[in-house]
Amino acid sequence: MSMLPPPARIGAPLDEVETPALIVDLDVLEKNVGRMAEVTARAQVAFRPHSKTHKSTSIAHMQIAAGAVGICCQKVSEAEIMVNGGVGDVLVANEIVGSSKLARLAALARRAKISVCVDHLQNVRDLERAAAEAGAHLHVLVELDVGGRRCGVQSPDQAVDLAKEITASGHLSFAGLQAYHGGAQHIRTHEERGEAIGQAASKVRAARDALARAAVPCPTITGAGTGSFEFEIASEIYTELQAGSYVFMDRDYKLNQPGNVSRMDFEQSLFILTTIMSRPLPERIVIDAGLKSYSTDSGPPEVAGMPGLQVERASDEHGIIMLADPNALFSIGEKLRLVPGHCDPTVNLHDWFVCVRSERVEALWPVSARGAIF
Ligand SMILES: Cc1ncc(COP(=O)(O)O)c(C=O)c1O
Repeated sequence: MSMLPPPARIGAPLDEVETPALIVDLDVLEKNVGRMAEVTARAQVAFRPHSKTHKSTSIAHMQIAAGAVGICCQKVSEAEIMVNGGVGDVLVANEIVGSSKLARLAALARRAKISVCVDHLQNVRDLERAAAEAGAHLHVLVELDVGGRRCGVQSPDQAVDLAKEITASGHLSFAGLQAYHGGAQHIRTHEERGEAIGQAASKVRAARDALARAAVPCPTITGAGTGSFEFEIASEIYTELQAGSYVFMDRDYKLNQPGNVSRMDFEQSLFILTTIMSRPLPERIVIDAGLKSYSTDSGPPEVAGMPGLQVERASDEHGIIMLADPNALFSIGEKLRLVPGHCDPTVNLHDWFVCVRSERVEALWPVSARGAIF
């Protein structure tokens, strides 16, 4: 496998990093990891961060050292990389379909504790067959659609039917319910986010009560993201949280109105370092980072520490920033830090995290699961 060398050397000043580069402020990252560990410990709820944000075995180990019970992945290939990197407890918080993927998942379950979600009877039967063939055991959660209108069963009765089928399968055990509300994460007001999770929690309660009536034990109820986790805690029905973006944060999350413990407590640790490569007009600067350096699905990046300044237009390798003040002092060769609109897909564009403390490169971490989408 060929991989580019990192865009920096350990010990170098930030100014010598090749751009564009994915920069992590280690002081802030560590603070974010510690803060979430503290909040979840105080709430006595298990924490299983989603690693699709960072795709890094280094950060996964940092989260586990801080108290996380394991991690979430979204894809089998991500789970393979995390298990190869020494992570022993992975929830694939997603439905996995197709014989070769199920065989890979079952093979992984011989080496680590692997859990996975289902929302269809056929998928349970296919998982059982794959686990039996591999001589493995899989932990299976039933996913509820709690408002995200993505995957998930639509009624408590369907959840009970699947849970019974899982329980009756020799190589599977019923691990509980997955109830993640993706649509709630970026609702801007604190109050409306709370209402959305309140409705989700009612659906979870109905499914949990239906399982209890059917005498099916439900050990875990897992879900939540960075925008909503405080409400899942407050609901007192979730036993495990899955937030991911809190480690890095992004511009989209910064636009959420703060909650009691959410946005205010997590700061931006992830940046794109970029160089001004041209100033063809006094009011236009051009940077060397374009669509191959950051995602724009949740809006363009903004320039850190310079309110009102954002990438107005991006092409593959260029970003255009328009200046309100044509006399503003920006020179060619100057470096800027960008705050990406959406951290997860931005990370997936890079091979390396350049980890910085006090303006010096302290570590270089591969984006271990970059491109692991299969
Ligand atoms: C199933 C699941 N859990 C948790 C998360 C984490 O959410 P966030 O990165 O917003 O904290 C996601 C993100 O998409 C997800 O799909």
